Amino acid sequence: MSRVVYVNGQWRPFRSAVVHVEDRGYQFADGVYEVCEVRGGRLVDERRHTDRLVRSLSELRISLPLPLSALSVVLHEAVRRNRVRDGLVYLQVTRGVARRDHGFPPPGTRPSLVVSAKRIDPAAGEAAARAGIAVVTVPETRWARVDIKAIALLPNVLAKQAAREQGAREAWFVDRDGFVTEGASSNAWIVTGQGELATRPVGPDILRGISREVVKEVAAAAGLTLVERPFTVAEALAAREAFVTAASQIVMPVVRIDGHPVAGGAPGPVAARLRAAFHRHAEFS
Ligand code: PDD
Repeated sequence: MSRVVYVNGQWRPFRSAVVHVEDRGYQFADGVYEVCEVRGGRLVDERRHTDRLVRSLSELRISLPLPLSALSVVLHEAVRRNRVRDGLVYLQVTRGVARRDHGFPPPGTRPSLVVSAKRIDPAAGEAAARAGIAVVTVPETRWARVDIKAIALLPNVLAKQAAREQGAREAWFVDRDGFVTEGASSNAWIVTGQGELATRPVGPDILRGISREVVKEVAAAAGLTLVERPFTVAEALAAREAFVTAASQIVMPVVRIDGHPVAGGAPGPVAARLRAAFHRHAEFS
């Protein structure tokens, strides 16, 4: 069975799924995206992802390419047609195809929509969670509106590559005051010496992660105290635990930061508990 991708109203074979050279996503990174987990053949937290998509689009004044009900059908079709049991659905909306000009294209230019789905072996994620991952820190160099899930991800790309080149799986951006903002593709958390969870409050300087929202609910149900405040790299190094959250990683323990062990270099019980309970608090569709 070969992969198919939805491109502007048509299902195309993966190899020939292409967009126009004057798509504004290609030329200006003028678009937004979402990544949604697929588990047991169902979408995880679709509604929250589409709510965030609508917000990202409205902040950039891009119109929704399809009514939400039709978009939902396409997302589920992507899962079904590609026979994804466990994996990810990727969706991208751009301002459409138009003659290259920085200002908005003429009224009536239709936004472009691409939806793809891929399988991921859940055993690989579980193995990574048992071992924990390493992160490196990099200076925050992104624009001032990273709450918008824009496809413009150059600093994230460079940060992730820096991580890989140092044998790490994730990079944490650190602001001018020494506080961690978030990961290149995840939100950052610690468990303090007092046993409290800490993560940066939402604002224009981080993405409001859907997994972050779910983990807040899991933590509340588990009776854990959450303090939404920024933390420094030094605090993370001295923390009982550190972890990251994202649709692609759920709750992933961090065991090294810039080569130094966190929490004795082994995953801790809080992250394990949050990970184990995560899907009981997520919505399936
Ligand atoms: N990234 N912060 C950034 C910069 C991200 O790119 C992501 C997700 C998150 C976590 O958001 P959520 O919990 O909604 O997945 C935080 C996706 C998975 C990606 O770019 O692949």
